[in-house]
Amino acid sequence: MQGLLVLSLLLGAVLGKDDFVGHQVLRISAANEAQVQKVVELEELEHLQLDFWRGPGQPGSPIDLRVPFPSLQAVKVFLEAHGIKYTIMIDDVQTLLDEEEEQMTAFKTRAASTDTFNYNVYHNLDEIYGFMDMLVAEHPGLVSKLEIGKTYEARPIYVLKFSTGGNNRPAIWIDTGIHSREWVTQASGIWFAKKITQDYGNDPGLTAILDSMDIFLEIVTNPDGFVFTHKKNRLWRKTRSLTAGSSCVGVDPNRNWDAGFGKTGASSNPCTETYHGKFANSESEVKSIVDFVKSHGNFKAYISIHSYSQLLLYPYGYTKDPAADDAELEGLAKSAVTALASLYGTKYKYGSIFKAIYVASGSSIDWAYNQGIKYSFTFELRDTGRYGFLLPASQIVPTAQETWLGLQTIMNYTRTHLY
Ligand SMILES: *[C@@H]1O[C@H](CO)[C@@H](O)[C@H](O)[C@H]1NC(C)=O
Ligand SMILES: [Zn+2]
Repeated sequence: MQGLLVLSLLLGAVLGKDDFVGHQVLRISAANEAQVQKVVELEELEHLQLDFWRGPGQPGSPIDLRVPFPSLQAVKVFLEAHGIKYTIMIDDVQTLLDEEEEQMTAFKTRAASTDTFNYNVYHNLDEIYGFMDMLVAEHPGLVSKLEIGKTYEARPIYVLKFSTGGNNRPAIWIDTGIHSREWVTQASGIWFAKKITQDYGNDPGLTAILDSMDIFLEIVTNPDGFVFTHKKNRLWRKTRSLTAGSSCVGVDPNRNWDAGFGKTGASSNPCTETYHGKFANSESEVKSIVDFVKSHGNFKAYISIHSYSQLLLYPYGYTKDPAADDAELEGLAKSAVTALASLYGTKYKYGSIFKAIYVASGSSIDWAYNQGIKYSFTFELRDTGRYGFLLPASQIVPTAQETWLGLQTIMNYTRTHLY
């Protein structure tokens, strides 16, 4: 253990990976609006290099903040000076990263088929793209792979299409990994893809769906960011595009959509994690989906999967005004989280983005909803913060299994409520 740890640290140093030794994740409880504002002030102190894992929202809702070792003292003094309560959620981020890395290294074998593929570990981009090709080769009559565009760094952007025929059937969109560090989401996406091929012809619900509709699944929605999380910085969230006039890299691809773009709930500062970009759809990873969904023209559900927090959200995020279908979306969200909880008891909250978390502008599901795709949802998968983005790989399959029940609820409902 100790030897392996030293080895992985050495390896990390050789490969030039960013290290997070001594970084802590604090869970901050801002009791009132004034305290929330104080925490927002912290966000503006760039020299502290803070990373909000869960941004400031309503008073009382937890704020999770990764603090680099050199800034710890300053942040704790600041919070204490303003009477703001906090606890240490993760004592040393690097310890979790080392455990994750050890696990990935220990299980590194190329699978010969999607049956022997290891769904219980995290995989890199090559392995995931390899998985997709195997799945397509094994089920040529059901699964195909579409390239919908290229990333900023010129990687292909792939979508899996599950279809049993027909012509431009009503369709369901699912994406995972638009924020690259949310690794349990891409891992769940892999599991969903396999599950669809297993259930078609066996499970009556999924079979009925695929007999009349198509499912499109984008597993790695931010490939450049994802590669960066493996090679350099495990906690990278954004794209990897350069902004003229700034040394900071990347745009938040879930603030870049043409829905309340640039309003409150996104940042105009390229150095923040929620930078919205110079203009809507500036990111190729976003524009590729926009073009694809628009030209398809027959999507009926749009589901974007994030982590963490255990939430099921629906529009809007950029305004407090309820969506026209608010009551229906609320009812469906309630059924979906009930189904999800039925497997392992995992509890989800649900509501509009604005009400359940915070104002967020330029998000994909607000855009999808405004395009007329009524059943637009965002999942925030496990956990509620013990591990945050560093969810142990042992939780991948249980997370995917329970989420699948939530997805199935939405897909079932969509099929029987076509519009
Ligand atoms: C989806 O519908 C099928 C029947 O069409 C049903 O067997 C299944 O339990 C439903 N799944 C969920 C999660 O509601
Ligand atoms: Zn996210």
